[in-house]
Amino acid sequence: MSNPSMPVAPTSWRVEPIGPLVGDVTVRGSKNAVTKHMVAALLGDTPSRVLNCPEIGDIEITAGMLRSLGCEVEVEGSAVSVAPGAMSSGHVPLSYGGLNRIPILLVGPLLHRMGEVLVPLVGGDRIGPRPIDFHVSSLEAMGAEVTMTPEGLHAKGAQLHGARIRLPFPSVGATETVLLTAVLAKGRTLLENAAVEPEVIELALFLQRMGARIELRPDRRFVIEGVDRLQGAEHFLAGDRIEAFSYLVAGLVTGGRVRVRGCVQGRLVTAISTLQRMGAHFEITDEWVAADADRLGHAVVQTDTHPGFMTDWQSPLAVLFTQCEGMSVLHETVYEGRFPYVAALKEMGAEIELFDACLGGRDCRFNEASAVHSAVVRGPTPLHGSEIVVPDIRGGFAYVIAAAAAQGSSVIHDVHHLERGYHHPMEAFSDLGLKIERLAGPSSGA
Ligand code: UD1
Repeated sequence: MSNPSMPVAPTSWRVEPIGPLVGDVTVRGSKNAVTKHMVAALLGDTPSRVLNCPEIGDIEITAGMLRSLGCEVEVEGSAVSVAPGAMSSGHVPLSYGGLNRIPILLVGPLLHRMGEVLVPLVGGDRIGPRPIDFHVSSLEAMGAEVTMTPEGLHAKGAQLHGARIRLPFPSVGATETVLLTAVLAKGRTLLENAAVEPEVIELALFLQRMGARIELRPDRRFVIEGVDRLQGAEHFLAGDRIEAFSYLVAGLVTGGRVRVRGCVQGRLVTAISTLQRMGAHFEITDEWVAADADRLGHAVVQTDTHPGFMTDWQSPLAVLFTQCEGMSVLHETVYEGRFPYVAALKEMGAEIELFDACLGGRDCRFNEASAVHSAVVRGPTPLHGSEIVVPDIRGGFAYVIAAAAAQGSSVIHDVHHLERGYHHPMEAFSDLGLKIERLAGPSSGA
């Protein structure tokens, strides 16, 4: 087996700004949905197929984990097939620790199939502490015995049962853990304060297609009646709303116009209304969404759970704010610690101040903590090229669009983070006219 901790070699890009980015980008199904569908496939007695998948490193990482459990996984272009068949193990190799958020989501399905599970500790992007306490307490409420060891999470429980669970915060991952576990548990599960992000609903619909009994009630409540068996299903993934927004902003920040295909308007409602408030013009059809602007003004934006302004849209927006007129405010209420990318933007000339206070909206749950979670951005400020190391997927995209809007070339190290989460980002940017040269060699070590 190839080393899972290094699915894509560290790579650097030299970015040469060319002026406005103009053209078309087609996005595929969302990164935040595809791997969850692969996990759901473990619950079926027959194979499942997921279509319109992006070609991203996260799929290879997840496929490697599933294969190590005895599943057959085929990745052919945009189609991923998972045949759970005769699973041979409930232990995910520890070498998969720290790569993405999938191991914790495997616990419920693996308990149903194997009765005993060992998964390495979760990783994902470096955005705050990303604890798993909601997952663990939900699994325990459904009858799992969970022990944390230095290597990972060990769980036992052959006969899981339904439970009444209330999440302290509408966590996407914990909601998915509950859905993926409750569908085959004995009896009814009532999940309150659940996440209702489009990718969560998409997973629930996939499970329903597999034969699960899931109801979505008003006020963030799911009711799940456990069934005895599920069969495989097929699903064409809906477009990635994070990529769609990011490329629309890439056009706006360079004074250009990007037309995004493959992501329906309904997934971008808050993104579109926010950019409209700032002065962007939209053209929207059933096939595409395009944005441009003569002049962009400042805004006050607070990230939130769906249908609020998505936290993954925050870093491209911060770059856009550097090119808008006036003082803009960003209040991050979903994750503490989601502003590490700002330091490099400041080195490029951005005028951004960070605060631990709740600015621009109601007080959030980070009010009492000393977490830095608000930013004030002054614009328009000329940016200049720089040498930057990508901290995580979303910060990485922000750096590329900052480099595209800057004067002079930039070298961006560790862009393999981008390739874990975006479908062929280099080709997409090149199609929009950006000059990117791939530099071989080791990362800068950050
Ligand atoms: C997912 C997305 C990520 C997105 C986020 C919020 C994937 C792979 N990633 O991440 O892109 O930004 O939803 O829309 O789908 N929390 C706890 N304890 C827990 C679980 C979560 O305190 O057990 C907290 C987190 O620290 C965070 C908040 O809840 O502050 C939201 O996290 P969550 O919604 O779970 O994010 P992910 O599912 O990890």
